[in-house]
Amino acid sequence: MVSFTTLIGAGLLATTAMAAPHTHQHSHTQLSQRSPSTKRGAAYNHLSDVQSLHQNGGISWAYDWNMVSSGNLPAGVEFVPMLWGSKMFGDWFSTIPTVLASGASYIMGFNEPDVSAQASMTPADAADSYAKYITPFSGQAKLVTPAVSNAGGPNMGLGWMRQFLDACTHCSMSVLAVHWYGDSADEFKIFVTQAQELAASYGLQETWVTEFALNSAINPGGDVQGSASFLTEVIPWLDSQSGINRYAYFMCADGFLLQGTDLSPSGKAYLSS
Ligand code: BGC
Repeated sequence: MVSFTTLIGAGLLATTAMAAPHTHQHSHTQLSQRSPSTKRGAAYNHLSDVQSLHQNGGISWAYDWNMVSSGNLPAGVEFVPMLWGSKMFGDWFSTIPTVLASGASYIMGFNEPDVSAQASMTPADAADSYAKYITPFSGQAKLVTPAVSNAGGPNMGLGWMRQFLDACTHCSMSVLAVHWYGDSADEFKIFVTQAQELAASYGLQETWVTEFALNSAINPGGDVQGSASFLTEVIPWLDSQSGINRYAYFMCADGFLLQGTDLSPSGKAYLSS
């Protein structure tokens, strides 16, 4: 019988080993499988794309910039609802209780409120709306800040986030969310490190990177080979960062992580890094 410490060392869940000691005949199969990152997610518009991405396992959560998942995600993939912005305020209170009752354990805040073409809100307005729509659910879910872009300056990106955190002092958030688009793995690591430092300085326990990609791969059919090399470098780095709890590459769709229903080169790199 393999010792308990060996199982922990091999990355197996202790509960699996404890709950079914009589199945140790099968432990070879289990030991040969890499345990998938619990951080890796799917940002999707079409549920079938998540099924394609997850064909061999490897993702643990998913979101669709929406309050509802629009169908059943694969087993073991947790849905995270988002309150995208003011366009969803009307349906929010009638929808979110059901989503939480179905097992959602986090709520994501507004999508790029620092960007005029996205949720477009001042930090003060966002703080008011956050306290009104999201904070009431703090007893039922962990709350994620709005997700900002990586634009610079005091009124965008982490500058916007700092103003928002100063205004939303009783909002009961525990996760900071950011997006990143840029040109190199080094730039990515610098920005994500700054985001983690900001989270820590405001007492937020987790940082999530809920959209990220190279600028060369923002559109469908973009630079999938360059993205594959980028992901091969940054995914192990994200997995090694204790302040980063979840991430989702942009995006789980044909022309990005998928080629039709198959994994693209970047999809393979995303899942195997
Ligand atoms: C938009 C979402 C959309 C997603 C993927 C985001 O920039 O805000 O509404 O679903 O892109 O297309």
